[in-house]
Amino acid sequence: MSKGEKQNIKSEYERLKSEVKKHDLLYHQKDKPEISDYEYDKLFQKLLKYEEDNLNLNTSDSPTRRVGGDAIAQFQKIAHRKPMLSLSNSYDANDILEFDLRVKKFLRSENTVEYFAELKLDGLSMELVYENGKLVRALTRGDGVVGEDVTHNVKTIKSIPLSIPHKELLEVRGEVLINKKDFAEMNHQNAENNLVEFANPRNAAAGTIRQLDPKIAASRPLKFFAYALGEYSGIEFKSQEDIENKLSDFGFPVVDRKLICKTDSIEKIVEYYNSIDEKRSKLPFDIDGIVVKVNLFKLQDDLGLVARSPRWATAAKFKPEQAETVVENIIVQVGRTGALTPVAIMKPVKVGGVVITNATLHNQDEIDRKDVRIGDTVVIQRAGDVIPEIVRVIESARPKNSKMYLISENCPTCDTKAVKDIEDVVSRCPNPFCQSVVIESIKHFVSRRALNVEKVGDKLIESLVEKQIIEKFSDLYKLNTEKLSQLERQGEKSIENTLSSIEKSKKTTTAKFIYGLGIRFIGEQTAKLLADHFLTVENFMQAQAPELETIPEIGPKVSASILKWTGDERLQKEISNLLKCGFIFEAASRNLNGKFSGLSFLVTGTLPVKRDEAHEFIEKNGGKLLSSVSSKLSYLVVGDDPGSKAEKAQSLDVKMISWDELLKLNS
Ligand code: IVH
Repeated sequence: MSKGEKQNIKSEYERLKSEVKKHDLLYHQKDKPEISDYEYDKLFQKLLKYEEDNLNLNTSDSPTRRVGGDAIAQFQKIAHRKPMLSLSNSYDANDILEFDLRVKKFLRSENTVEYFAELKLDGLSMELVYENGKLVRALTRGDGVVGEDVTHNVKTIKSIPLSIPHKELLEVRGEVLINKKDFAEMNHQNAENNLVEFANPRNAAAGTIRQLDPKIAASRPLKFFAYALGEYSGIEFKSQEDIENKLSDFGFPVVDRKLICKTDSIEKIVEYYNSIDEKRSKLPFDIDGIVVKVNLFKLQDDLGLVARSPRWATAAKFKPEQAETVVENIIVQVGRTGALTPVAIMKPVKVGGVVITNATLHNQDEIDRKDVRIGDTVVIQRAGDVIPEIVRVIESARPKNSKMYLISENCPTCDTKAVKDIEDVVSRCPNPFCQSVVIESIKHFVSRRALNVEKVGDKLIESLVEKQIIEKFSDLYKLNTEKLSQLERQGEKSIENTLSSIEKSKKTTTAKFIYGLGIRFIGEQTAKLLADHFLTVENFMQAQAPELETIPEIGPKVSASILKWTGDERLQKEISNLLKCGFIFEAASRNLNGKFSGLSFLVTGTLPVKRDEAHEFIEKNGGKLLSSVSSKLSYLVVGDDPGSKAEKAQSLDVKMISWDELLKLNS
């Protein structure tokens, strides 16, 4: 390759990288994406492919490095150049005034002091070390002196810059956290896939950072906000405000400037404390107080430390958001998988600005453990700011002759006897045609990630099922104006919208359809695997145990759950009726009967045709494309100038063929 060609490759690579970085910034920091997720994915894939095709490029600061490399064996302990201190704290606004007095006394100053107050983020603190303009290390706080190296996970956080314009040492400190909304979504997905559910966003963030395999972190919505520094050189900072401005200019996320308070009036800080407490529940992430810092570095230096805390800062925490109320009733809800969940219905009470009436009691064990009874006065709180829960019962206020609560043995909706598997904590209604199960199943079927029937909401489904207009998925596709007009408040326009969104949902994918069926343990990812394997819903419905067991990610529990579902004759009949409604399955690009079916391929080097065309050809004939060479690969298709893939294939004894041989294989 000539020098000029090399230069061209390099500049094209830099251009691609900076384009991806630009869209990362627009999406993650500015919240103003300019291209769709789909376009972004395409761009990202293009960059990945460019790196695969040109192995000599320096990818150390490439956005592709965030996707997560290899798992590490264990965490390395590394000392912080400068200890990570803790803050003195209190739960009382009055202590803010005392802090001000302490500061002024120490400085022997009658004058006012400028304060910079900001949110106390409730995540986990992190130190990012930049050397020569590159992120080289990320350390947890640890004991403040020695932290753990979690670089592999932190590199997956898209809002953290991998490179910065400052070439000397810079250690940036801040908080890793997960937004409340993302947390709820993530836990929902985890529940569906029968994975651990975290108690709150903080635990979820900490649990993610403590994983050895960075792919887990890459798949979770971690965020970072900068608020402090460790060691640095070649740059000056005058104040806390200056830190955050400069860091923001370098591309680090900082909390919205509307949520900070810079003032020399300590009364204003107390007002700020109260106003943030009010706003707390509406913020996108959890906070547990405010941090008040003396703004100017010069004064911070004069103030110094006491023990392990700076004298120039303090945390004023918020009281946990708790309240007392009375349990008026305990009802049992029936979920999509038949799970019977007891829910306490309480006298409405405000907790942290939100009126709470319900709290889940999870299951009988939980009720027994807390001994919650109807009529009890209880302390409730919003765990991790999101889900309300009963903390404890105030036993002294318990009414006489109250009885321990026992979940009834029958389903409250259809009266079928509930069953409880040995390893299960909840009991379930086993009747798939139970009205509650049907309502919840249809809600899931139409949900965004499943069939995405936009105009069919929860209330509509409830009325339609209760009025017995629909009782199964296929009935949705038999709805018409006449049937919908039987419901109240259904104008011509809204009926038209409902019907057209149902019609639109027929264009879907096998994966979404399988996910929509709501089979226990089949979350979105598993549904995708199943769709990849079976290609059509018909094939999936006929799956037998031996075939399911050949899919590596499908274990015995999941397989049993699928077979139980697909083995139910009534459900089989329903699916065959449903499939007659005219679904169009997109991207059924792989042809099960194709010559390549059951074989896997990977392409490397320059072929006589474009890479996309080669991929399309393979998929059209039923072949599966893999992303890396492993012993599972059936064929490596090798063109001119193959790279390391060919070497790896050779060492693993994977068959290698040319493009012409591939064409022959198909004839
Ligand atoms: S400044 C010398 N600012 O609070 C103190 N800390 O006790 C340097 N925290 O675990 C920290 N939000 O993770 C600072 N805006 C903020 C913060 C914050 C949360 C946490 C931090 C640390 C603890 C300090």
